[in-house]
Amino acid sequence: MAVADERELGIESETDSPHMNELVNARVSRRTVVTGGMAAAAGFLTAGLGASPAAAKHSGKGPNPRRAALLLGFAAIAPSNADEVVVPAGYTARPLIPWGTPILGAFPAFVPGTPPLVAGGNTAAQQAQQIGMHHDGMHYFPLGNKRRGSSRGLLVVNMEYTDERYLHTGTTAMPPKAEWTAEMVLKSQNAHGVSVVEVARGAGGTWEAVRSPRNRRITANTPMAVSGPAAGHRLLKTAADPAAGTLLGTINNCAHGYTPWDTYLTCEENFNGYFRVDGAKEAYKAEDSGLQAAYGIGGDRNNWATNDKRFVVTAADPNEPNRFGWVVEFDPFDPESTPVKRTALGRTKHEAAFVHEARGGRVVVYMGDDEVNQYVYKFVSKGNERSLRALGKSPLDEGTLYVARFGVGGSGQWLALVHGSGPLTAANGFADQGDVMVKTRLAAKALGATPMDRPEWTSVDADTGLVYLTLTNNTSLAKVEHPANPRKPNPWGHIVRWEEARGDHTATTFKWDLFLIAGQGRSSGDGSTIDDEDAFGSPDGLWVDPDGRVWIQTDGKQPKGANDQMLAANPYVDDADGVPEIRRFFTGIPGGEVTGVVTTPDQRTMFVNIQHPGESEPSTWPSKVPGATPRSATVVITKDDGGVIGT
Ligand code: FEO
Ligand code: CA
Ligand code: CA
Repeated sequence: MAVADERELGIESETDSPHMNELVNARVSRRTVVTGGMAAAAGFLTAGLGASPAAAKHSGKGPNPRRAALLLGFAAIAPSNADEVVVPAGYTARPLIPWGTPILGAFPAFVPGTPPLVAGGNTAAQQAQQIGMHHDGMHYFPLGNKRRGSSRGLLVVNMEYTDERYLHTGTTAMPPKAEWTAEMVLKSQNAHGVSVVEVARGAGGTWEAVRSPRNRRITANTPMAVSGPAAGHRLLKTAADPAAGTLLGTINNCAHGYTPWDTYLTCEENFNGYFRVDGAKEAYKAEDSGLQAAYGIGGDRNNWATNDKRFVVTAADPNEPNRFGWVVEFDPFDPESTPVKRTALGRTKHEAAFVHEARGGRVVVYMGDDEVNQYVYKFVSKGNERSLRALGKSPLDEGTLYVARFGVGGSGQWLALVHGSGPLTAANGFADQGDVMVKTRLAAKALGATPMDRPEWTSVDADTGLVYLTLTNNTSLAKVEHPANPRKPNPWGHIVRWEEARGDHTATTFKWDLFLIAGQGRSSGDGSTIDDEDAFGSPDGLWVDPDGRVWIQTDGKQPKGANDQMLAANPYVDDADGVPEIRRFFTGIPGGEVTGVVTTPDQRTMFVNIQHPGESEPSTWPSKVPGATPRSATVVITKDDGGVIGT
C-alpha cells in the first residue's frame, strides 16, 4: 500500500490536510505507481476507460470505448464578451419564453416599464399570467408518443429571483424603499416561483410556447402542503397558520430535480434574504438563536416586508422562515395539483436535487447546500419507489438523509441525520426528527460533515454510476483547506466526483477524486488542471447527458472577464496529464449566468437558460432594441443537420 493510501484506513480530522501542491504531486506520482484500488488521483475513477475498458476497475460498465472517444464532435468556440449567445458552427440558438411571455388567462402581452413609471409595464395580476423572472433549473417532460415526445412537451422552469430595477421601472435605478407599494411587492412575488409551459416544434422546426390548459404559474403565494418529519412541527407553526397545515409559496427556486414517477422538484435556495427581522435579539432568543443565525435570516432584499407582514420575523411570530429551505415536489401534468414541501430531504439553501434510482428501486437524491463551507447531502428512500407509491406513500417522505464526510485520502462516509443517534439528541437541541430536519445545517455540523466550497449541482453518469458535483468557489477566510476543496482561496471552483461503494447508491461509504480544478488554465499557475483554451470559472449547472457528456455551466467570475459559458467534457478521454477533454459549446450574455440544461429525449433539441442578463453589465438581450430592458430567457439549441447535440 502506498503511503498516501494509508489515509484510506480512517477519516482524518479536517485540520491535517496536506497542502495542495503535495496533493497534486501525490496524484501525479500515484498515476504512475498505483495499479488498482483506491487513490485520490485526478481521473483515477475513469482512467484508461476510453482506451481500454479492461482498465476500468470501478463497478460501472462504462460506455462503448469507440463511442466514448467520439462523444464531442463540435468545434470548440472562443470565450466571448458579446451581447449575443454564441454556439459552434453548425448549430443554431434561438431565445424562447423570455420573462413576461404570456402563458395563461388573458395572455397579457409583455409591456416593459417606462421611466419614471413605478410598478409600470405589466401589473402584478398580469405577471401571474406570464413567465416569471430569472430562469434557472428546468426540465422537459415529453408529451405524446411521436419520437418519445421530442417535438412537444412541458418545459418546467424555476424563476429564481427578480431584478427589481427592471421589474418595476425598466430602468437601471432601484425605486426608493419609501415608494414601495403592495402592488410592487405582489408583482415581485408573482415573478418568483416556477413556470410550466407547453412548448412545441412548429412546421418550420422552430420551438414556440403553446396556449395550453397545462400551463401554470406557481408563485410566492401558491398554497402548498407539507409532508415528512417536519409536517405540523412546532417550528413550522405561525400566527396565520397555527396548525402548519398550509404553507404559502416557494421562493428563490434555484435548481431542480425530476423523479422516475414524472414529478418535478423545485429547490428553495436563498430564501433567508427575503425576511426582515424586527427586534433581532427577541426574535432570535431561546432555542432558535442558533437556528436563525445558521441560515442567515434577514435582509429584506426585495422590500417585501414593507407591505407583507408574512416576511417580518418577530419574537411573537418567528417561524415563517422555517417554512422555506425545502425541496418542493409537484405534478407538472396537473395544473391543479398541490405542491408538497418534502421535509425528509432536509432544510438547507437547496441548490438542486438529482434523483437516481438505485438497484432494488430505492431512490437516492443528491443535493448541495450552496453557501461557503456548507455540505453535500443524499437522501435514500426506505424502500422500492414503486412499492411505496403503490401503498399511497411518497418515496420522498420515508427514508434517511445523509451528509458527506470526505476523507483526505480519497475515501468518504455518509453520516445519517437520525434523531437520537450520536450528537442529535434533545440535550443538543434536537427534540425529535422534525427538529433534525428543520435544523439540518446544525445537525450536519454536529456530525462532522466536511465543509465544501459552495456545493451546487450534482448529476449521475448512468453508464458508470459516478456522481459529479460542482463546487463553485470559496474565497472565505473561514475556509479550511481540504483535499476535496483544494486552494485557499478558491476563486475559480472545481468539480469533485465519487463512486459509491460497490456501485450501490444506497451505500454509506464512497471513493472520490477531483474531476477538474477550474481557472485560467494550467500554464497560469493558478492551480487549475484544465488546458488554457478551456479556461472557465465558477462551475454551477451540471448535467451528464445519456451519452456521458458532462455539461458544465458557469455562474460568476470568468477568466479575462468573459461572459458566463457552457462547456462539454468527455470524462472518458484523458490527455497525457489526466485532464478530461473539454470543449466550449456556448457563451452567454454580459451580466448574466448560464444555467439549466436539458434535451428532448432524442437529444436533438437542447434548452439552456440565460439568467439575469444585464445585471452587472449593460445588455439589451434578447430584443437587441437600443435601450430595451434585458430579459432572462430560455435558449433553444438545435443542430443544423438535425443531429444529436454535442456531436
Ligand atoms: Fe442559485 Fe447556487 O445558484
Ligand atoms: Ca445555481
Ligand atoms: Ca450560482
